[in-house]
Amino acid sequence: MRNQAFQEFERTGWEEVASSYAGSIGRVTAGVAGPLLDAAGVERGSVVLDVATGPGWVAAAAVERGASALGVDIAQAMVDEASRRYPYVEFRLGSAEELPVDSGTVDTVVSAFGMPHFADHHAFAAEAFRVLRPGGRLAFSSWLPPARNPFFDVVLGAIARQGSLDVGLPAGVDMFHWAADEACDDLLTGAGFGPATRELVELVWTDEDGPAAMLDFLERGGVRSRALFLAQTAEAKSAIADDIASSLAAYERDGRWAIPLRAFIVAADKLVG
Ligand SMILES: C[S@@+](CC[C@H](N)C(=O)[O-])C[C@H]1O[C@@H](n2cnc3c(N)ncnc32)[C@H](O)[C@@H]1O
Repeated sequence: MRNQAFQEFERTGWEEVASSYAGSIGRVTAGVAGPLLDAAGVERGSVVLDVATGPGWVAAAAVERGASALGVDIAQAMVDEASRRYPYVEFRLGSAEELPVDSGTVDTVVSAFGMPHFADHHAFAAEAFRVLRPGGRLAFSSWLPPARNPFFDVVLGAIARQGSLDVGLPAGVDMFHWAADEACDDLLTGAGFGPATRELVELVWTDEDGPAAMLDFLERGGVRSRALFLAQTAEAKSAIADDIASSLAAYERDGRWAIPLRAFIVAADKLVG
């Protein structure tokens, strides 16, 4: 069932951070475009739909491969940001749960890090299935949980230790839920897809000031993380900053920080017949 409060929280949040996201964690998520398009089998002539396109990295990379691509996002500011960056790619306002595309017209549906943000994943899987031609493929990337993902371990660990993770945000599906094999298999086979393949991808956030970059991420690089951080007391915010700086020391070499972020790329085909 659609969680309207959560969807509206996400939409309005992304409207506010559309331009700052691109220079924050967006610099890192852009690195999944190549592996995601490979997993999706995108090649010259493919018709690609990029859902939750954000600044448009994946749709643009598909066009650079000779595919035709449409990027869709729920936030108008993201559609504007993507259109400004890639004027030769088509971007359109729309939600993952009601894709603004005709049935059976797409070879590949991709989504880079849209899954942690959707309000109704069953609706997204059903919509992806609807717009794909028979034999077409859905591929998405989603984060591993903090225990296996140093970036989120540092950031969320600092908030848990120095502040509170329970600040009354609209509840959505746990953003790390789609790292679990069974969760993806249930979702995809339930929508009519064949067996899923899964690939681990390691991205790395490199920066000349890791602690400042992490704080900037909390202040204007995401939606749930930002709302969580902004809800902390001034005292807790300061302790969180110190905690992050201390945890990040392990990732610094000669004045440069390199912090791993790990994701799965999951892909499955729309069965023919
Ligand atoms: C973490 S960003 C990912 C952007 C980009 N794909 C990337 O990898 O950098 C999440 C994006 O999902 C979009 N979004 C959130 N909920 C959505 C929904 N229900 N339907 C479509 N887009 C959604 C946001 O506006 C935001 O642009």
